[in-house]
Amino acid sequence: MPAKPKTQYACEQCGALAAKWVGQCGDCGAWNSLRESVTATDARGFDYGDKTPSRAQRLSELEPERIRRYSLAINEFDRVLGGGLVEGSVVLIGGDPGIGKSTLLLQCLGAMSGRIKALYVTGEESSQQVGLRAQRLGLGDADMGVLCETAVARIIEVALAQKPRVLVIDSIQTISAELPSAPGSVAQVRECAAQLARFAKHTGCALFLVGHVTKEGTLAGPRVLEHMVDTVLYFEGEPGGRYRVIRAVKNRFGPVNELGIFAMLEDGLKPVNNPSAIFLSRHEQAVAGSVVMASREGSRALLLEAQALVVENHGGGARRVTIGQDTNRVAMLLGVLQRHGGLALYDHDVFINLVGGVRVVEPASDLAVIMAMVSSFRDRPFAADTVVFGEVGLAGEVRPVPNGEERVREATKHGFKRVILPKANAPRRALAKGVDIAPVSRLAEALEYV
Ligand code: TYD
Ligand code: MG
Repeated sequence: MPAKPKTQYACEQCGALAAKWVGQCGDCGAWNSLRESVTATDARGFDYGDKTPSRAQRLSELEPERIRRYSLAINEFDRVLGGGLVEGSVVLIGGDPGIGKSTLLLQCLGAMSGRIKALYVTGEESSQQVGLRAQRLGLGDADMGVLCETAVARIIEVALAQKPRVLVIDSIQTISAELPSAPGSVAQVRECAAQLARFAKHTGCALFLVGHVTKEGTLAGPRVLEHMVDTVLYFEGEPGGRYRVIRAVKNRFGPVNELGIFAMLEDGLKPVNNPSAIFLSRHEQAVAGSVVMASREGSRALLLEAQALVVENHGGGARRVTIGQDTNRVAMLLGVLQRHGGLALYDHDVFINLVGGVRVVEPASDLAVIMAMVSSFRDRPFAADTVVFGEVGLAGEVRPVPNGEERVREATKHGFKRVILPKANAPRRALAKGVDIAPVSRLAEALEYV
């Protein structure tokens, strides 16, 4: 007899469970986000017949299996995955609707066509729509299975029969299992993902789950799945912008914070091989409030333009608005600037933007952001041929950052003439002729360059 379904309440925003309904989620603090979710305890899905009893093994007995990877033939995508798609792994791809998730995956399957058997399952579009898109992408005759289906049991049935090596589910929010709750609810999304992941682990088929990021509404976002999958990739990028950035947020088979950078063109997403070149806006003349920094996200250095606008605030309640930077970090930098740079901006609005829609999470951007703020405040253009990087500590010291030489090399490669950097990062030998290395150890020293 199946166990009696148990009623629980799950938060739509973060997926936290509660036994009783409450107005505010105790975990993430979202209001009115709890929905009834029935967990059927017998929804086990397929029986793969693995009846071997559990036994603990010694660590020394374990044979590290050689992981097998498929190249997706799209170099930027291979890079975020850590060097290709791992057999039997489950990859979650999250992003706003319309950012290009379906396009990218269809292109991948197209690029693998003939080499690796693939099945594309869509619960969102009709097969005609998929066909049209494939034609637009120039993949009209690619060899892949397309299935329009939303019931997870039937999807697994077809997959077991067809034995694909790569399975794409677009999107997990449209798929449902035999549960009383609506498709897209936390319970459904979790259950379907669990069944599909079991299928992937048992058959060695790599699985892509597409998940729409939802601001509010009734759909469970991809965050509720993050702990169940091997790899989590998120699309970043300015809405309406031309460039798309994919970041590995979690990866059991590769580095995190690796970025893949694409341009959305008429005929699909194209990898961008020299990303520094596209993110620099190359002003005709030096402008106030703009500083180029050398950042390193994942395994490559990237030149980005930090822009700051500092304007007097007359209404009270000075605003700090940031795009691509952590607002709290910027508030901290304002404190450091006040104490150690002699510039108090409490009666000024501060706006920070990293051009191009890339988010920088490493503290190596500190120095450039501070210098952009000072440059904007003084309305003094900052030298356009200079690149800046370095972490700024609370004591006003400029701290070294990892991979300094690589950042300097990226700057020289793009023709910059001077690099302002932490003293401990200064290269011991000249990296290239004609580049002036300006090491600083205190914030005040750096500000003399503005
Ligand atoms: P899509 O892959 O459908 O987004 P998602 O699956 O994440 O919801 O992307 C659709 C957007 O991309 C749509 O706004 C149109 C644009 N696009 C192009 O610019 N070029 C193309 O070749 C394709 C297929 C889509
Ligand atoms: Mg889509």
